[in-house]
Amino acid sequence: KNIVILISGRGSNMEAIVKACAAEGWPARIAAVISNRPEAGGLAFAQSHGIATAVVDHKPFGKGDAARAAFDAELQRVIDGFAPDLVVLAGFMRILTPGFTGHYAGRMLNIHPSLLPAFTGLHTHQRAIEAGCRVAGATVHFVTAELDHGPIVAQAVVPVLDGDDESALAARVLSHEHRMYPSAVRWFVEGRLVIDGARVRHRDGES
Ligand code: GRF
Repeated sequence: KNIVILISGRGSNMEAIVKACAAEGWPARIAAVISNRPEAGGLAFAQSHGIATAVVDHKPFGKGDAARAAFDAELQRVIDGFAPDLVVLAGFMRILTPGFTGHYAGRMLNIHPSLLPAFTGLHTHQRAIEAGCRVAGATVHFVTAELDHGPIVAQAVVPVLDGDDESALAARVLSHEHRMYPSAVRWFVEGRLVIDGARVRHRDGES
């Protein structure tokens, strides 16, 4: 199976997936890592691991609906050049058009740093602390047209501790993301995830 990973920055989730794919011998390869930001730190890691990289910079497309659609069309063209079976969003900070999400329906995953459906959007950790939540976490889900929605594959829960600030909570959640996201991607490439309406069923074993 060909996996294409999209990043915008540091790429630590991408790194965790690359390492797990190699170490655990998944029936898959990372075909490419693509960023919408030329300066994304994760690109260097991918290159140093012999993985093809590409940049599709959103800035020259400008602003507005037409620009967004044109960017998504170009991104889709570049992604599809790598013939992906799965597209993995790993800290990819772009809102995607329905045309794009529809094209990858059932074969695009995202990780979001909250326990969905709570706290869609940005600043999730700060908002969880301000709301007085005693737990926080992260969610892996299939991507649909609606931002941070879509059938849930996996969730990791961590405590919110007294005295936590945003960065302390983010670090605690991120360490769980690095375990959960590789597992979820592995389940997909092993054919163990079945989308059943709004939910995901997990098939056991080797089927
Ligand atoms: C992660 O917390 C992820 O959940 C969120 O953005 C962050 C990306 O970090 N969507 P990294 O680029 O994978 O290090």
